[in-house]
Amino acid sequence: MIRSATVYDVPRIQEIINSHAELGRMLFKSLAQLYEDLRDFAVYEEEGQILGCVGLTIIWADLAEVRSLAVDGNHQGRGIGKKLVEWTFAEARRLHIRKLMSLTYEQRFFEKLSFEVVPKDSLPLKVWSDCVRCPKREGCDEIAMVRVLEDVPVVELPAATPTPKGVSIPVLEYAEED
Ligand SMILES: CC(C)(COP(=O)(O)OP(=O)(O)OC[C@H]1O[C@@H](n2cnc3c(N)ncnc32)[C@H](O)[C@@H]1OP(=O)(O)O)[C@@H](O)C(=O)NCCC(=O)NCCS
Repeated sequence: MIRSATVYDVPRIQEIINSHAELGRMLFKSLAQLYEDLRDFAVYEEEGQILGCVGLTIIWADLAEVRSLAVDGNHQGRGIGKKLVEWTFAEARRLHIRKLMSLTYEQRFFEKLSFEVVPKDSLPLKVWSDCVRCPKREGCDEIAMVRVLEDVPVVELPAATPTPKGVSIPVLEYAEED
Protein backbone atom coordinates (compact mmCIF):
# COMPACT_ATOMS: atom_id res chain seq x y z
CA MET A 1 0.00 0.00 0.00
CA ILE A 2 1.19 3.50 -0.79
CA ARG A 3 0.09 6.33 1.47
CA SER A 4 1.15 9.82 2.51
CA ALA A 5 3.93 9.78 5.09
CA THR A 6 3.41 10.84 8.71
CA VAL A 7 5.83 11.80 11.48
CA TYR A 8 5.85 8.18 12.65
CA ASP A 9 7.46 7.14 9.36
CA VAL A 10 10.33 9.63 9.41
CA PRO A 11 13.00 7.58 11.28
CA ARG A 12 12.40 4.63 8.93
CA ILE A 13 12.45 6.89 5.84
CA GLN A 14 15.79 8.24 7.02
CA GLU A 15 17.12 4.73 7.61
CA ILE A 16 16.25 3.61 4.06
CA ILE A 17 17.57 6.77 2.37
CA ASN A 18 20.79 6.85 4.37
CA SER A 19 21.47 3.15 3.76
CA HIS A 20 21.72 4.04 0.05
CA ALA A 21 23.51 7.34 0.74
CA GLU A 22 26.28 5.38 2.46
CA LEU A 23 26.87 3.63 -0.87
CA GLY A 24 26.96 6.99 -2.73
CA ARG A 25 23.65 6.38 -4.54
CA MET A 26 21.83 9.38 -3.12
CA LEU A 27 22.20 12.29 -0.70
CA PHE A 28 22.00 11.82 3.07
CA LYS A 29 18.91 13.34 4.67
CA SER A 30 18.77 14.69 8.21
CA LEU A 31 15.69 14.26 10.38
CA ALA A 32 15.22 18.05 10.21
CA GLN A 33 15.10 17.98 6.40
CA LEU A 34 12.65 15.09 6.41
CA TYR A 35 10.25 16.67 8.91
CA GLU A 36 10.38 19.93 6.96
CA ASP A 37 9.55 18.17 3.67
CA LEU A 38 7.22 15.56 5.16
CA ARG A 39 4.16 16.73 3.21
CA ASP A 40 6.01 15.88 -0.02
CA PHE A 41 6.50 12.25 0.99
CA ALA A 42 4.71 8.97 0.39
CA VAL A 43 5.71 5.56 1.74
CA TYR A 44 5.18 1.99 0.60
CA GLU A 45 3.92 -0.11 3.51
CA GLU A 46 3.55 -3.88 3.67
CA GLU A 47 2.34 -5.73 6.76
CA GLY A 48 3.06 -2.69 8.90
CA GLN A 49 6.60 -2.30 7.58
CA ILE A 50 7.83 0.66 5.54
CA LEU A 51 9.78 -0.69 2.57
CA GLY A 52 10.21 2.41 0.41
CA CYS A 53 9.67 6.13 0.10
CA VAL A 54 9.48 8.92 -2.43
CA GLY A 55 9.07 12.69 -2.35
CA LEU A 56 7.44 14.97 -4.90
CA THR A 57 8.57 18.58 -4.60
CA ILE A 58 6.83 21.33 -6.52
CA ILE A 59 9.31 23.48 -8.44
CA TRP A 60 7.01 25.62 -10.56
CA ALA A 61 3.54 25.68 -12.09
CA ASP A 62 4.51 23.11 -14.70
CA LEU A 63 7.30 21.20 -12.95
CA ALA A 64 7.71 18.91 -9.93
CA GLU A 65 10.76 16.92 -8.88
CA VAL A 66 10.75 13.24 -7.92
CA ARG A 67 13.15 13.10 -4.96
CA SER A 68 14.42 10.75 -2.29
CA LEU A 69 13.18 7.64 -4.07
CA ALA A 70 14.48 4.67 -2.12
CA VAL A 71 13.53 1.04 -1.63
CA ASP A 72 14.80 -1.15 1.23
CA GLY A 73 17.83 -3.08 -0.06
CA ASN A 74 16.19 -6.43 0.77
CA HIS A 75 13.08 -5.62 -1.27
CA GLN A 76 14.47 -4.15 -4.49
CA GLY A 77 13.32 -5.59 -7.81
CA ARG A 78 9.76 -6.27 -6.62
CA GLY A 79 8.09 -3.34 -8.38
CA ILE A 80 8.02 -1.11 -5.28
CA GLY A 81 10.13 1.67 -6.86
CA LYS A 82 7.85 1.66 -9.91
CA LYS A 83 4.73 1.93 -7.72
CA LEU A 84 6.25 4.83 -5.78
CA VAL A 85 7.03 6.74 -8.99
CA GLU A 86 3.50 6.00 -10.22
CA TRP A 87 2.25 7.61 -6.99
CA THR A 88 4.13 10.78 -8.03
CA PHE A 89 2.31 10.68 -11.40
CA ALA A 90 -1.05 10.52 -9.61
CA GLU A 91 -0.02 13.29 -7.24
CA ALA A 92 1.18 15.50 -10.11
CA ARG A 93 -2.12 14.90 -11.92
CA ARG A 94 -4.04 15.83 -8.76
CA LEU A 95 -2.09 19.09 -8.67
CA HIS A 96 -2.38 19.61 -12.45
CA ILE A 97 1.40 19.62 -12.83
CA ARG A 98 2.34 18.43 -16.30
CA LYS A 99 6.06 17.71 -16.06
CA LEU A 100 8.12 15.63 -13.65
CA MET A 101 11.87 15.57 -13.39
CA SER A 102 14.50 13.56 -11.59
CA LEU A 103 18.24 13.88 -11.04
CA THR A 104 19.42 10.32 -10.90
CA TYR A 105 21.98 7.60 -11.55
CA GLU A 106 19.16 5.16 -12.37
CA GLN A 107 18.66 6.04 -16.04
CA ARG A 108 17.28 2.63 -17.11
CA PHE A 109 14.79 2.50 -14.23
CA PHE A 110 13.41 5.93 -15.09
CA GLU A 111 13.40 5.21 -18.85
CA LYS A 112 11.08 2.29 -18.13
CA LEU A 113 8.73 4.84 -16.60
CA SER A 114 8.89 6.99 -19.77
CA PHE A 115 11.33 9.59 -18.45
CA GLU A 116 13.78 10.99 -21.03
CA VAL A 117 17.26 12.37 -20.55
CA VAL A 118 17.42 16.16 -20.93
CA PRO A 119 20.38 18.61 -20.74
CA LYS A 120 20.92 19.64 -17.13
CA ASP A 121 20.94 23.31 -18.04
CA SER A 122 17.38 23.01 -19.40
CA LEU A 123 16.15 22.79 -15.79
CA PRO A 124 15.51 25.91 -13.67
CA LEU A 125 18.24 27.03 -11.26
CA LYS A 126 15.91 26.38 -8.32
CA VAL A 127 16.40 22.65 -8.88
CA TRP A 128 20.07 22.91 -7.91
CA SER A 129 19.59 24.37 -4.44
CA ASP A 130 20.47 20.99 -2.85
CA CYS A 131 23.89 20.97 -4.54
CA VAL A 132 25.55 22.83 -1.67
CA ARG A 133 25.03 19.75 0.49
CA CYS A 134 26.31 17.31 -2.11
CA PRO A 135 29.84 15.89 -1.76
CA LYS A 136 29.96 15.47 -5.54
CA ARG A 137 29.14 19.10 -6.33
CA GLU A 138 32.52 19.66 -8.03
CA GLY A 139 31.92 16.84 -10.50
CA CYS A 140 28.19 16.20 -10.61
CA ASP A 141 27.50 13.01 -12.56
CA GLU A 142 23.74 12.80 -12.03
CA ILE A 143 21.54 12.50 -15.09
CA ALA A 144 18.63 14.91 -15.55
CA MET A 145 15.45 13.18 -16.73
CA VAL A 146 11.97 14.47 -17.51
CA ARG A 147 8.55 12.87 -18.01
CA VAL A 148 5.67 14.85 -19.45
CA LEU A 149 2.14 13.82 -18.45
CA GLU A 150 0.49 14.44 -21.80
CA ASP A 151 -3.01 14.18 -20.35
CA VAL A 152 -2.42 17.17 -18.03
CA PRO A 153 -3.33 20.37 -19.90
CA VAL A 154 -0.63 22.97 -20.52
CA VAL A 155 -1.08 25.84 -18.06
CA GLU A 156 -0.50 29.45 -18.89
CA LEU A 157 2.64 30.22 -16.92
CA PRO A 158 3.11 33.36 -14.85
CA ALA A 159 5.55 35.82 -16.43
CA ALA A 160 8.07 35.44 -13.56
CA THR A 161 10.89 32.90 -13.83
CA PRO A 162 11.17 29.89 -11.48
CA THR A 163 14.13 31.58 -9.78
CA PRO A 164 12.87 35.06 -9.00
CA LYS A 165 15.30 37.96 -8.74
CA GLY A 166 16.06 38.90 -5.14
CA VAL A 167 15.51 35.39 -3.78
CA SER A 168 18.69 33.86 -2.41
CA ILE A 169 19.42 30.50 -3.99
CA PRO A 170 22.57 28.92 -2.50
CA VAL A 171 24.55 28.43 -5.70
CA LEU A 172 27.99 26.86 -5.54
CA GLU A 173 30.13 30.05 -5.59
CA TYR A 174 28.10 31.33 -2.65
CA ALA A 175 28.75 28.14 -0.68
CA GLU A 176 32.48 28.23 -1.28
CA GLU A 177 32.80 31.79 0.03
CA ASP A 178 31.54 30.69 3.49
C1 LIG B 1 16.19 2.61 -8.09
C2 LIG B 1 15.18 1.96 -7.17
C3 LIG B 1 14.28 3.02 -6.54
C4 LIG B 1 14.33 0.99 -7.99
O1 LIG B 1 13.35 0.42 -7.16
P1 LIG B 1 12.95 -1.12 -7.30
O2 LIG B 1 11.77 -1.36 -6.43
O3 LIG B 1 14.16 -1.95 -7.06
O4 LIG B 1 12.57 -1.19 -8.84
P2 LIG B 1 11.31 -1.94 -9.49
O5 LIG B 1 11.28 -3.35 -9.01
O6 LIG B 1 10.09 -1.13 -9.28
O7 LIG B 1 11.71 -1.90 -11.02
C5 LIG B 1 10.86 -1.41 -12.04
C6 LIG B 1 11.50 -1.76 -13.37
O8 LIG B 1 12.77 -1.12 -13.48
C7 LIG B 1 13.80 -2.07 -13.66
N1 LIG B 1 14.97 -1.64 -12.87
C8 LIG B 1 15.03 -1.37 -11.55
N2 LIG B 1 16.26 -0.97 -11.20
C9 LIG B 1 16.99 -0.99 -12.35
C10 LIG B 1 18.33 -0.70 -12.64
N3 LIG B 1 19.18 -0.30 -11.68
N4 LIG B 1 18.76 -0.80 -13.92
C11 LIG B 1 17.89 -1.23 -14.89
N5 LIG B 1 16.60 -1.52 -14.67
C12 LIG B 1 16.16 -1.41 -13.41
C13 LIG B 1 13.24 -3.38 -13.13
O9 LIG B 1 13.87 -4.47 -13.73
C14 LIG B 1 11.78 -3.25 -13.52
O10 LIG B 1 11.64 -3.57 -14.88
P3 LIG B 1 10.30 -4.30 -15.44
O11 LIG B 1 9.15 -3.34 -15.16
O12 LIG B 1 10.57 -4.48 -16.89
O13 LIG B 1 10.17 -5.57 -14.67
C15 LIG B 1 15.85 1.15 -6.03
O14 LIG B 1 16.70 0.20 -6.59
C16 LIG B 1 16.65 1.98 -5.03
O15 LIG B 1 16.16 2.30 -3.96
N6 LIG B 1 17.92 2.28 -5.38
C17 LIG B 1 18.81 3.02 -4.49
C18 LIG B 1 18.42 4.45 -4.34
C19 LIG B 1 18.34 5.19 -5.66
O16 LIG B 1 19.20 5.07 -6.52
N7 LIG B 1 17.27 5.95 -5.81
C20 LIG B 1 17.02 6.74 -6.99
C21 LIG B 1 17.33 8.16 -6.67
S1 LIG B 1 16.70 9.19 -7.95
